[in-house]
Amino acid sequence: MAQCSQDWVARTVRRWIVTLYVMSWAGVFVACGGTSSNNTNTNQNNTNTNQNNANANQNNANANQNNANTNQNNANTNQNKKPPPTIPGELEPKSWGELKLEARSYALHKELLDDADLQMILMGKDLWVGGKKGLFRWANGKFEQIDKVRVTALAVWELKKGQPALLVGRENRIDLWLNHTIAPSALSSILEKGEKLQVMVARGKTDLWIGTDKTLWRWQNEDTPIQQFKQIKGVKSLYVYDGSPELILHTNDDKIIGLRNNKGSWELRSLEREVKDTTLEDVLPWKNGEFWGMAKGKLFFRKRTEKNVAWWPFRLKPNKDKDFEWSVRRMALDFKAGTVWLWVKDGILRIDEAEARLLRWKEKLEKVVLFRIGKDEGLWISDGKVLWRIGQDGPVTTYQKDVKPFVQQSCLKCHKQGGSADFYLLTTYDEVRSGVNDMIRRIEEKGSPMPPPPNKLVGGDAETLRRWIQGGYRQ
Ligand code: HEC
Repeated sequence: MAQCSQDWVARTVRRWIVTLYVMSWAGVFVACGGTSSNNTNTNQNNTNTNQNNANANQNNANANQNNANTNQNNANTNQNKKPPPTIPGELEPKSWGELKLEARSYALHKELLDDADLQMILMGKDLWVGGKKGLFRWANGKFEQIDKVRVTALAVWELKKGQPALLVGRENRIDLWLNHTIAPSALSSILEKGEKLQVMVARGKTDLWIGTDKTLWRWQNEDTPIQQFKQIKGVKSLYVYDGSPELILHTNDDKIIGLRNNKGSWELRSLEREVKDTTLEDVLPWKNGEFWGMAKGKLFFRKRTEKNVAWWPFRLKPNKDKDFEWSVRRMALDFKAGTVWLWVKDGILRIDEAEARLLRWKEKLEKVVLFRIGKDEGLWISDGKVLWRIGQDGPVTTYQKDVKPFVQQSCLKCHKQGGSADFYLLTTYDEVRSGVNDMIRRIEEKGSPMPPPPNKLVGGDAETLRRWIQGGYRQ
């Protein structure tokens, strides 16, 4: 079986190579939807516009003045359109709370201790970790060493439908773990010219991105030739999520580039210069052209208003009366749940659309070598000694399984289209998510509780909703 799949990869790779020889590089690029220079130009213009907006936002004191300028610009270009909405100076969470989640710990193998380049991935229930000293798998309560070759990246890839395989990136080849054996995969041929593999990320099951010290590669499936992004001269890190339209690359020359497919062609844009006077150290792709970014310990959110795109400072000030602000050290996104995780001095902060919640960390985390959301939707962090998995243990409270049936039985009689309280709908995930704090408040309100008596709570209670919040609003 293993042999069979690898043959299949070999066939595919041979086919790419044929494709590559036949076409000129530029030809391949256009044929595969590579970035054309036209696109780059257009984007450059966009970037300039953004820069202006970002500048406007930077200076809160001048917010009004800047808005006036923005309007003026719009007025010049388009006299009839109404002015854009006012840009507030900063964003911040509407409320603050505590996060209570379990942490499971995995002591690292001695060969993994203090490895600043720790890699981890889950394949089904199997936990894999890699580092400078080789590849390891968690089994029977400890990490077992599989081999001693340096691991630079780990990805789970579906070779055939329903047959996930582990791809293990080494410096100069890509190995495949299948049926309890590890062997070089034919994908390695892209590294034959001496390129060093630096990152490898799978988006979904059939979209594999490989960053080397020289360039960026993408492989989708058997029927598509491998694509090379020649404009990109080396990739240090790469962020892309299942369902995210955009990729973020940190290039070898320390640029942050967004890569987005627009009707078949790839657009590149440079992002790190958008925030005036600060170079973004980290940018992660969010929804609809939005991004989270970090610069000098401050958090930024890039979003679009009707007319503009701008980076907004996102303040983490837990106490309105005190000047204290959290400074951010690491950032990870849970793309599916719509939450942002941050490592701050006293613990871990989770930011939802409107709320920030702090998970206090029992020991002091001196450093963090790994900080990411796993395929099991838990937060995985390591300080170089221990690997932790943070999240609800056991069955996770979800909207479909727990919240929706409860709301249906207890609330929907009135809070639906045509019900007696249809001004306050609780029929969709989004409606319940944005109303959940008010729902808890009203369920527990003594004077006029929900549901109004003699109706009774059926199928759950405020605790169901609290667990759902703590667990991260799972769908
Ligand atoms: C028998 C009809 C009925 C049922 C069942 C019902 N509600 Fe209501 N709800 C109302 C009415 C009427 C109002 C508006 C008057 C008020 O606020 O008391 C309302 C208002 C609300 C509001 C908005 C007002 C505010 O305080 O923010 C929330 C939130 C709410 N209900 C939550 C719930 C929840 C949660 C459930 C289920 C556990 C529920 N309701 C079940 C009739 C109902």
